[in-house]
Amino acid sequence: MLATAARRISQQCGRTLAPMAAASGALQQQVAGVTSGPAGAVYNVGKATNIKFHDGMVPRDTKEEILGQKGVVLWFTGLSGSGKSTVACTLEHALAQRGRMTVLLDGDNVRHGLNKNLGFTAQDREENIRRIGEVSKLFAESGVITLTSFISPYRKDRESVRARMADGDFLECYMRIPIELCEQRDPKGLYKAARAGKIKNFTGIDDPYEEPDKAEIVVDARDAAGNMQSAEDMAATIMQYLEERGYLSAPAASGTEAATA
Ligand SMILES: Nc1ncnc2c1ncn2[C@@H]1O[C@H](COP(=O)(O)OP(=O)(O)OP(=O)(O)O)[C@@H](O)[C@H]1O
Ligand SMILES: [Mg+2]
Repeated sequence: MLATAARRISQQCGRTLAPMAAASGALQQQVAGVTSGPAGAVYNVGKATNIKFHDGMVPRDTKEEILGQKGVVLWFTGLSGSGKSTVACTLEHALAQRGRMTVLLDGDNVRHGLNKNLGFTAQDREENIRRIGEVSKLFAESGVITLTSFISPYRKDRESVRARMADGDFLECYMRIPIELCEQRDPKGLYKAARAGKIKNFTGIDDPYEEPDKAEIVVDARDAAGNMQSAEDMAATIMQYLEERGYLSAPAASGTEAATA
C-alpha cells in the first residue's frame, strides 16, 4: 500500500501543479473571503497583506490511502458533564485498537495552550470554536479522524465550522443528556459553583445551550429499550456510524487509481 501511495505522490506532484496554480485564484476567492489581489496571485486576507496560497501539496486522497481511512471531524457538542470527553476518549481508544489514526481536541486541554488567551464571553467562545474548527479542518484534510470535545453552545458557531468544510467532513455528534443528569454527575463541581453564583456565564445555568437541529449523530442517555447506556455503548454506536458510511476505509480504489493510470 505504501509503495502505491509513494508512486501516486510522485505522479500527482508532477501532474497537478500547473492546473492547480491556474485555479488557485478562484479557489482563494471562495475559501477565504479575500479582498483583493493583483493578477489573481497575491491577496489581502483579514489583517494580512500580500498572501499567496501555496498549492501542490500531497493530495488528501493519497494521505487517506496511506492511512486506510477517510478524514473527518466528529464534533461532540453538549452540556458540561454530558460525557463528551469520556465518550470521545473511549471512541478514540477503540479506533486505535482498530489501527485508525486519530486526534482528540478537548476543551480544557486546548484552553491550556492554543486558546489560553480566551475566556467564556460570547465573543471568546466564538473565537474558541473558530480556532478549533480551523485546526480540525487541517487534520481532517490530512486524512485524520478528528474528534473534538467542546460544549460549543451556540448553533451559529457550530454552523460556521460546518460551512467551512466539504460535505461529509463534519459530523455533529449531539450528547443529548438532560441537564438534571449532568448536574447530578457534576464531576468538577461546576454546576454547584454556578448555582452558588461563583461561576458566571455557565452553560445551562445563566448562559444558553442551543440544541443542534441537524446533528448527524444524536446520543441519548438511554437506549431504545429504556436502559441507561454506558460510555462504551455510546462509542460503539458512533463507531458503527463511521463504519457504515465508509470512514474507516481508504477512498475507493476506482476513483484514485483511474486518475493516475
Ligand atoms: N455514558 C455514561 N454513563 C455514565 N457516566 C458517564 C457517561 N459518560 C460520561 N459519564 C460520566 O459523566 C461525567 C462527565 O463526563 P465528561 O467529563 O466526559 O463530560 P463533558 O461533556 O466532557 O464535560 P465538560 O464540558 O465539562 O468537559 C464523568 O464523571 C463521566 O465518568
Ligand atoms: Mg470535557
